[in-house]
Amino acid sequence: MGTMIDALIGRIETAEGLDRPGYTLGKAISRTGQIGGKPSKSLANTLHGRTLGHPVHPLAVAIPIGTWSLALGLDLLAVAGVLRDRATPRAADLALKAGAAGAMLAIATGLADWQHLNGRDRRTGLVHGSINTASLALNLASIRLRARGRLGAGRWVSGAAFAFTGVSSYLGAHLIYRRGNAVDHADRSPEPRDFVVVASLADLKEGVPYRAAVWDEVARREIGIALVKQGERVFAMGARCSHAGGPLHQGWVLDGTLVCPWHGSRYDLQTGQPTSGPSTCPQPRYQVRLVNGMVEVRREQEPGDKAVTSETLARLPPEDRNTGTTKSDVDALPRAKATEVLFEHHELLRRLFERVLATPGTDPQRHALMHTLAAELDIHEAVEDAIFYPAVSGVSEDVDIAYAEHGVLADMVGATVKLPTDSEAFETNVRALQSAFLHHAGSEEHSMFHEAERLSEQRLRDLGGQLEDMLDAERTSRFRRTFRDLKLKLLETI
Ligand code: FES
Repeated sequence: MGTMIDALIGRIETAEGLDRPGYTLGKAISRTGQIGGKPSKSLANTLHGRTLGHPVHPLAVAIPIGTWSLALGLDLLAVAGVLRDRATPRAADLALKAGAAGAMLAIATGLADWQHLNGRDRRTGLVHGSINTASLALNLASIRLRARGRLGAGRWVSGAAFAFTGVSSYLGAHLIYRRGNAVDHADRSPEPRDFVVVASLADLKEGVPYRAAVWDEVARREIGIALVKQGERVFAMGARCSHAGGPLHQGWVLDGTLVCPWHGSRYDLQTGQPTSGPSTCPQPRYQVRLVNGMVEVRREQEPGDKAVTSETLARLPPEDRNTGTTKSDVDALPRAKATEVLFEHHELLRRLFERVLATPGTDPQRHALMHTLAAELDIHEAVEDAIFYPAVSGVSEDVDIAYAEHGVLADMVGATVKLPTDSEAFETNVRALQSAFLHHAGSEEHSMFHEAERLSEQRLRDLGGQLEDMLDAERTSRFRRTFRDLKLKLLETI
């Protein structure tokens, strides 16, 4: 089904015959905007959603989809005889009218965004908008038919319009989720977390954007930064435009803004906020300081970012912070560090995988070993989720992904324990599960465990003690074992 739909969309995307009407309509929209001057520019900004800080189109389409769905539901219930009162057709009629008003807003906002698309996306957008317009026309016809007392015909026509809306919604979703239109294209790397030199002041010309770059080691890619010198000050923002990824360093400066060369979005040099669309999304910002003729920048982290910086580390309770306590100070501490406890558990799990795979499929031992492996994976997830991840979330950015990987491992265990241990599918699944586990354990050991060293050794040993206690309790508690066995039995049978 998916392949068939992809092929159909592919035909739209390659239909060059759509280019002529597409560019004619696009030009008509931009010419109207030019003639309309400032008021039409403000209207375009509102339709894009600059004032809102998000595109308006996805919000606007919710109105017709919601109200027309309601009208369809009421019509179906009335036809089925569930709702027989007179209020039902009136409510359906009202819902159709509200939807028609919303559809007009959706078309206006859609056109404002669509005019900046090119190539295959412009073609898909044109078909998407045409189907929407057809759907609106059918709904208006249905409203008219209903007003003339032809309720049955009106219901058929709005039902057909609903099918049109479904197709067009699919195309709209394709444009956003598959093709990445109307999403943020800026590079939001947290680097550099501390001030680094990115240019010499002498390299910057007054009012001419300059591209500097820093390296993001985790993402293994270069992050472009657009620098602009104005008088005694230097401003910095992400060089990749949030609208569609245009090169802002190739743009120009106008009235205290940096203008994107691709679609003309303007970003305030001081705040990085778009002052004019089509962009609705601010650029990544950087603090700038000038030291001995050099330009140094530091990424200004955004609300919701989980970047670990010197400031976030400074917020840790003093006793949790790694202040470089010497080894002799902690030699007397009895418990292993959390990272050592977890590394040992990783090793145990690695050995268990090897044993399961080395045991012949016909050997009844294999089933028992798989049970032990599944139980230990479950315990591993429980102890990390309950103790380790919450403790290191302030010093490591890997925690969210690690939680997600636990979900993947649990799903794979569920799929594997159902299979007969002598089947080829079991062998394949265990190998896939082993790969998933090795990836998970490997990334923890190479990254998260190192970052955990930002905590004091005392704290890591306290955590290690808690982990050992919980590992013990998980294995020995009769209640926990019974619960886990029951869960495994359910997974095997369902
Ligand atoms: S890429 Fe469209 S305005 Fe920058």
